[in-house]
Amino acid sequence: MNYRHAFHVGNHADVLKHASLLFCLDALRRKPTPFAVLDTHAGRGLYDLTGEEAQRSPEWRDGVGRLWNWPEPPPLVAQYLEAVRAFNADGELRTYPGSPALITSALRPDDALAACELHPEEYSALRRALPRVANVQLHARDGYESLAALLPPAQKRGLVVIDPPYEKPDELATSAQAITRALKRFGHGSYLWWRPMKSESALNAADAEIHAHGARETLRADLWTAAPTPEGKLVGSSILLINPPYGIEPALREALPFLADALTKGQSGWALRQH
Ligand SMILES: C[S@@+](CC[C@H](N)C(=O)[O-])C[C@H]1O[C@@H](n2cnc3c(N)ncnc32)[C@H](O)[C@@H]1O
Repeated sequence: MNYRHAFHVGNHADVLKHASLLFCLDALRRKPTPFAVLDTHAGRGLYDLTGEEAQRSPEWRDGVGRLWNWPEPPPLVAQYLEAVRAFNADGELRTYPGSPALITSALRPDDALAACELHPEEYSALRRALPRVANVQLHARDGYESLAALLPPAQKRGLVVIDPPYEKPDELATSAQAITRALKRFGHGSYLWWRPMKSESALNAADAEIHAHGARETLRADLWTAAPTPEGKLVGSSILLINPPYGIEPALREALPFLADALTKGQSGWALRQH
């Protein structure tokens, strides 16, 4: 396990993932009944953008950094920037909240988060980053395994966030298989699954696997900031929302062209597909 999210934090992929995540959380909060979130690959929770990793590889400058002072971004992006601003009280962008920090901020007292992180250092940092409150449970365990062990949640409704590092060549297929098993246990839950845009055919095969195993409704959002380069630097990502919340399709349809323009580094683009 060599992947460190600190090198990539706040980049175009985090923007797409975290803006969509915040919409999903907001949608869950529209009902008074409590909800649960399972974050299978949590990371360290808070990232210091002035720290060594983020300075060595400042991908955030072409991601959240470009949006930070944008006058009137679309609502999906405005909500995301507002959530990041809550971690940067003086208005200077220095701290970036990862998924478990954003989720924790959105919980009401009866809602719950279970967050898994397998890397020992990242797990220790996560423990330090999040408040010690009863409704936030951290697990130093395999996130794929948690999809079987921790679902369905006692609250019976909620969101599952799957954001693996894709270090292993077969990790897209591994994730798809784990999600299909999770759907058998928690078929009416919402899922946000992040994937790198590396191979269109592999992504289509992963989506087909999900549809073949019971996902009733999905929405796929792709955002790329440039044409793929031979050195393989990640220029695009794709999220698959299973049981997407009401209203996210038009919100993404408005935000994606804006993001493709604002974050462009060449031949940028976007796609949105409902199934
Ligand atoms: C892409 S990062 C997560 C970023 C985080 N979700 C966010 O949005 O802020 C992936 C994380 O998964 C961790 N990891 C790798 N394999 C894992 C596994 N099998 N189970 C749980 N965590 C794992 C890595 O250490 C890394 O911190």
